[in-house]
Amino acid sequence: KRSKIRIALDGPAAAGKSTIAKVLAEELGFIYIDTGAMYRTLTYKAIQLKIDVENEKELSNLLLNTLIELIPGAKGQRVFLDGQEVTEKIRSNEVTSQVSMVAKHKTVRDEMVKRQQKLVEDGGIVMDGRDIGTHVIPDAEIKVFMLASVEERARRRFEDHKKQGIKSSLETLQKEIEERDFLDSTRAASPLQKAEDAVELDTTSMNIEEVVKTILHLVDTRGGSV
Ligand code: CDP
Ligand code: CDP
Repeated sequence: KRSKIRIALDGPAAAGKSTIAKVLAEELGFIYIDTGAMYRTLTYKAIQLKIDVENEKELSNLLLNTLIELIPGAKGQRVFLDGQEVTEKIRSNEVTSQVSMVAKHKTVRDEMVKRQQKLVEDGGIVMDGRDIGTHVIPDAEIKVFMLASVEERARRRFEDHKKQGIKSSLETLQKEIEERDFLDSTRAASPLQKAEDAVELDTTSMNIEEVVKTILHLVDTRGGSV
């Protein structure tokens, strides 16, 4: 039942998508694809080139001339922009604060989705993002919409930053998350939305192990039956 299925994981910022996706992929021997990293990489390049994040035409042209590679590594997925590693650079506050502006453009999204769908062809993948269940893999065998209260999500991100030695305040993080969620869920082109047939999972009071167990149970009971 677990063979070559596709798991679509969507939800707001810092809900735990990438953490859970990584563990699931490992458990199942699947490939993990972080689509947020693709939007972050384009945003990073646009910032370097001083391209206005409101300029849809320039951004989508830029994307057509941009190579984004996601390569599985021992410590998780590594990201390469035009052959150069940008794994850490795309997590900066500057990128985080602008990525939703870049990601709102329809022509940018169309090209990203095209690339993402190519990565999915063979199945055996866990993909996380905002529009995976609704647009990228509308016929995914498993769809999960992962939620947690914004306070809990800010707390989780705060702990991440503390561990990495990044100074930040809980208040600022919560504001940043709220702003990004607002932009992501109100844009016209494939907004952040639960797919009709997605399983909603509120992880506010669940630890990582519990979330993984719940989804593996879904895989074993529903996987491949679609
Ligand atoms: O990990 P975090 O929640 O901070 O965000 P991410 O998954 O790295 O995504 C960064 C941003 O990319 C999101 O806030 C969205 O604006 C955009 N994104 C998107 O529009 N569609 C996706 N499938 C994935 C990300
Ligand atoms: O990918 P996304 O932005 O949705 O979130 P993440 O970066 O995977 O998760 C943010 C933080 O929350 C990570 O440090 C996870 O370890 C933590 N987390 C948690 O404490 N409990 C969960 N049930 C899920 C994630």
